[in-house]
Amino acid sequence: MNKLSIVGAGMVGEAAAQMIARDELCGELSLIDVQGDLAKGKALDVWQAAVEAGSDTRVYGGSNAEMLRDSDLVVITAGVPRKPGQSRQDVLSINLPILDGIMQDINTYAPSATVLVVSNPVDVLTYRAWSLSKLGRDKVFGQAGVLDTARMKCFIAEETDFSARDITALVLGGHGDSMVPLMRYCAIGSVPLSHFLSDQQIERIVQRTRQGGGEILALKKLGSACDAPGVAIAQMVDAIANRRNRILPAVAILEGEYGRKGIAMGVPCVLAGHGIERVIELTLDAQEQAMFDHSADQVARDIAEIDAL
Ligand code: LAC
Repeated sequence: MNKLSIVGAGMVGEAAAQMIARDELCGELSLIDVQGDLAKGKALDVWQAAVEAGSDTRVYGGSNAEMLRDSDLVVITAGVPRKPGQSRQDVLSINLPILDGIMQDINTYAPSATVLVVSNPVDVLTYRAWSLSKLGRDKVFGQAGVLDTARMKCFIAEETDFSARDITALVLGGHGDSMVPLMRYCAIGSVPLSHFLSDQQIERIVQRTRQGGGEILALKKLGSACDAPGVAIAQMVDAIANRRNRILPAVAILEGEYGRKGIAMGVPCVLAGHGIERVIELTLDAQEQAMFDHSADQVARDIAEIDAL
């Protein structure tokens, strides 16, 4: 990939920039923020760290939207994070106009760039970004499930004491308390999770995964998670930059899959060279579909709320 831009030089944007630059996932990386000097300072720091790791990715920082020009991929992390006790929806009224402005800049300077939305509430903002873009759903999507899945793997590893390397997990739905961990698709070394864990243990893991972001926020108090979200972004960027054809969960615009349209939700996708190559539609059992519908109804309500803002 030639050029990647990250809009938002907060903790998540910086963490993502570090991983992307260190792994040399693009030739040039722009870190853009309304606080231009902050972005410049962080860009210098990230660049110098990347050079120490043997990478030749050049990192630039600033506040000028023109820095987006010629981007192949734009990652949006700008906006305010939640405060302890707030839901991701509580930051919608602040983050929506910020996203709108960024999409205007993208439409001006990088109208054909792939857009990866990370700011919260990510499902709603991904839908909004796609609506404001002139692109297909293959090029506008969000990050949530890679992070939620990583969290679930941690909790499974803790509960079983097995290596997290052998754990596979899958989380669907909205990025919030209604997310849908699909335990039927979780395994350790290809052995279904139910072989090792009781229903009670599995339920504990599900609950902790749903509240994984909130748990960190309550402890850190001044900011939400940033390191694991940064790595999750880098994994998706790597899949695209290296045309890996990976199956990863992404917040995708649904066009009838899982019985839904006019909504963006976490679903398994094939990530290829330009973005989402296809959405994978799994057959859900009645209970899973009910959880998915519950999550989708919440996201649909939030999307409808945008009109009222
Ligand atoms: C989290 C925030 C970043 O899940 O959504 O930690």
